Amino acid sequence: MSKNIVILISGGGSNMAAIVRAARQQDWAGRHGIRVAAVLSNREAAAGLAFAREQGIATEVLDHKAYPSREAFDAALAQAIIAHDPALVVLAGFMRILTPAFVERFAGRLVNIHPSLLPAFTGLDTHQRAIDAGCRFAGCTVHEVTAELDVGPILDQAVVPVLPGDTAQTLAARVLAQEHVIYPRAVLAHLLQK
Ligand code: GAR
Repeated sequence: MSKNIVILISGGGSNMAAIVRAARQQDWAGRHGIRVAAVLSNREAAAGLAFAREQGIATEVLDHKAYPSREAFDAALAQAIIAHDPALVVLAGFMRILTPAFVERFAGRLVNIHPSLLPAFTGLDTHQRAIDAGCRFAGCTVHEVTAELDVGPILDQAVVPVLPGDTAQTLAARVLAQEHVIYPRAVLAHLLQK
């Protein structure tokens, strides 16, 4: 039985790369048929696409600006995803808000990583907002995607300290290193339960 992962990216794709590596390194993942089947992006310039292509993974770009509405883009995106028979759809720095119809279509098999300790700091600029609020700790959250943005059952979290003198950039780098630990772990664990 195959358990295909389809990953959606908009940028660097470092979380996607961490998941690709984990799925290949863990023998048991292969034995369970777990593999990254495709990487899709809404931006041709997404740096992560090059890595995926080097790894021999199918890639596709759907430019959201080429569609007349959010609904039309999401419908095309859903078709592109379904072509890869996904057991799990993984949002990895995919910077588009998805329509309720899209979320409903993939209910129970759609996950996201968010760079904060949810339910704190949904939305954008999470690191600067954590610094501005005087937080002593920050982190990241893997969660199931539901119709409401950055809300949904939490699957895993990691905590990092906010250090004196931190900028949004230094804090983001510390959080991102933990994202690369928890996202592959959460994705593979989620798939094993299916
Ligand atoms: C990650 O920090 C991820 O948590 C964040 O974008 C970055 C993508 O990095 N996602 C969001 O902010 C979603 N709202 P990557 O492309 O190197 O994986």
